[in-house]
Amino acid sequence: MTVTAIPNTIQRHGTRSPMRLGVLVSHLREEEKLILAAAAERGFETHVLQDRSLMLDLTSPEPPPVDLVLDRCVAHTRGACILRIFDSWGIPTLNSSQAVDICDDKVMMSAALAAAGVPTLRTAVAFSIESALQIGEKFGYPLIVKPVSGSWGRLLAKANSPESLRTLLEQKQQLGTHHHGVFYLQEYITKPGRDIRAFVVGGEVIAASYRNAEHWITNVARGAVSTVCPVTSEIEGMSRAAAGAVGAEIAGVDLVETADGLKIIEVNSGAEFKGLRSTTPVPIADVIVEHAASTFAILKGSH
Ligand SMILES: Nc1ncnc2c1ncn2[C@@H]1O[C@H](COP(=O)(O)OP(=O)(O)O)[C@@H](O)[C@H]1O
Ligand SMILES: [Mg+2]
Repeated sequence: MTVTAIPNTIQRHGTRSPMRLGVLVSHLREEEKLILAAAAERGFETHVLQDRSLMLDLTSPEPPPVDLVLDRCVAHTRGACILRIFDSWGIPTLNSSQAVDICDDKVMMSAALAAAGVPTLRTAVAFSIESALQIGEKFGYPLIVKPVSGSWGRLLAKANSPESLRTLLEQKQQLGTHHHGVFYLQEYITKPGRDIRAFVVGGEVIAASYRNAEHWITNVARGAVSTVCPVTSEIEGMSRAAAGAVGAEIAGVDLVETADGLKIIEVNSGAEFKGLRSTTPVPIADVIVEHAASTFAILKGSH
């Protein structure tokens, strides 16, 4: 493999064999810059592994010179593929490729939450318009339609009637790729103008924020405003359970307040924390790097 990495070797005096942390990225966003700075601050050797520049020779592997890879890829499908290869080369990754796979696929994610008994929204999958309409009858309207793989609230739609559901799905079938032939359908929750983003690192909820918006889609990427949200024991318990259900060590968990209490919307791997950061004194990037370091120490100790 040719690692088109940008080496950023910063070693503190007196620190012996610092962790060599690979940070897998699509772009260097604010979050990744903070993570790299936090790692450098601790004297770790950092290597930026940019997804589109990687050339991974599977038959004559040349693994990157890193002890652990932190996945911060925006293109999750690509990220999971790269992590699987690193896995096969014996390089530990955070999160695991399996967790990234699950989080990248809302069907697998919802199934994992349900199997673990984590309260989540009523969700079903259908492959034809007629079956989707039957789900509409069962769940009632409005009905939410989401792409199986996606983020930032993109291509989410609300069907207010069977007629609009049919039109929406016909358009998906005609205009979309084959991925859009899997209809992921969900009950609509009337929210109090916000949802909750909780951040989990190593099984702990380190911070949470409300994401406030007039629109029913409350992603920060779509203009929602983040405000302080105390981490209640309910938020803590549910977020930890949700991250655990998909096997994610580092996760951004979306929760919604419903008439029946809190429920999980989804779990994100490699989640952004720009909005959350503005609401909490918790140094999120530092906590992530600390967790990577303790994971490395545990792995090193076990060999
Ligand atoms: N079933 C739903 N009912 C009401 N609002 C929803 C529902 N599902 C999602 N939303 C809103 O849309 C946002 C994005 O949905 P989400 O499933 O997290 O997709 P993405 O992966 O694009 O972030 C959520 O944060 C929430 O504000
Ligand atoms: Mg989301």
